[in-house]
Amino acid sequence: MNSKRSQELYEKSSTLLPGGVSSPVRAFKPYPRFIKYGKGSRIYDVDDNEYIDYCMAFGPLILGHANNAVAEAVSKQVFNGTIFGAPSELEIDFAELICKHFPSIEMLRPVSTGTEATMHAIRLARGYTGRKKIIKMEGGFHGAHDTVLVKAGSGALTHSVPNSAGIPEESTKNTILVPYNDLNAIEEVFKANPGEIAALITEPVMGNTGPILPKDGYLQGLRELTTANDALLIFDEVITGFRLSLGGAQKYFAVQPDITTLGKIVGGGLPIGVFGASSEIMSSISPSGPVYQAGTFAGNPLSMCAGITTIKSLEKINYDDLNSLGELMRTSLGKVAQELKIPHQVQGIGSLFQMFLTAKPVENYADALTCDSAAFMKLFHGLLDEGIYIPPSQYETSFVSTAHTSADVEKTAEAFAKVMSEVLM
Ligand SMILES: Cc1ncc(COP(=O)(O)O)c(C=O)c1O
Repeated sequence: MNSKRSQELYEKSSTLLPGGVSSPVRAFKPYPRFIKYGKGSRIYDVDDNEYIDYCMAFGPLILGHANNAVAEAVSKQVFNGTIFGAPSELEIDFAELICKHFPSIEMLRPVSTGTEATMHAIRLARGYTGRKKIIKMEGGFHGAHDTVLVKAGSGALTHSVPNSAGIPEESTKNTILVPYNDLNAIEEVFKANPGEIAALITEPVMGNTGPILPKDGYLQGLRELTTANDALLIFDEVITGFRLSLGGAQKYFAVQPDITTLGKIVGGGLPIGVFGASSEIMSSISPSGPVYQAGTFAGNPLSMCAGITTIKSLEKINYDDLNSLGELMRTSLGKVAQELKIPHQVQGIGSLFQMFLTAKPVENYADALTCDSAAFMKLFHGLLDEGIYIPPSQYETSFVSTAHTSADVEKTAEAFAKVMSEVLM
């Protein structure tokens, strides 16, 4: 595959952008592909190579690239103004749609990224409860802010910096880590810190160590333990919101958190984050209450417009179809690896999937570390050459969208079979 132009652009971008990229998870050796455009399930690079995309911008593009309805709505809005610095009716329409599908959210604040959403959700939880300590999962990624950048999975794990430089220990001393899927560990934390835990933050389904599912009763257990200890439960649904179902993972698993964070999908491909909760909790947010939060681009008309159009489109789709396509992918890839006798776990749920190269079922961060991530990168490169673009990390999650088809899945499974037999045997 010719990737000369990508190489040239990388050489230039490396002199201007650290590592040649604008976010570390996009980097891979020897150089990433520079993308010219995307449509539906496909992306096209500057050397005119076509790829079936399963990275899907790390999750937002549930309707595929350049969805017509979203593109039209956003184009129209551009001519009416992209930002006002004053409220617009679009924010009300957007909030109404989210509240309709997430009964645990009565009020929300739109922000510009998922990072902001979790940062402010944690500040809100601390302000509301008057407590300082936060429980978080090992391998849980909630954006790149100080409180949560401890054993944070994903990019940090891939690039071997589980804890970032530049974060004073004072910033993380109130962050307590526990393994995912282990209720006893959380019970112990509550016992050791009576009356001190403001909140437990977790993704209901882990996505940033690859997809890890909650064991039966785990999310209910989190709900019970937080309630019993007067701590808030924060579900970070930046990936799972509007992904597992219209009402996210909380609807899928029937467990209601106190605070929810959303992002990715709800921006329809434009920058977004959301945190929301009951009116009582949200009333602590400025200007109603004492917890300060602000943002120039918060609730900007373009993100609102793309989000509204995306959610309205999702109201018309059948999630069972999308999730079945995810299931088809998981079973197809599982069959491939099994036939080749390669130690593996194909994990995921709904439209999420990942091929873990380990013999051990992945139930938490420690299990994820048993994967052969060097072998995974060989797989990644082989797939790239076959025109299949998955996220460049063992510790990420791949997505199918409504634009993918069973023919795409079939082609992808064939590519996995070819590459796995060539580079992993
Ligand atoms: C679960 C989760 N929370 C928060 C974030 C941060 O979102 P953003 O990249 O929009 O800041 C991410 C990003 O991948 C995420 O996966």
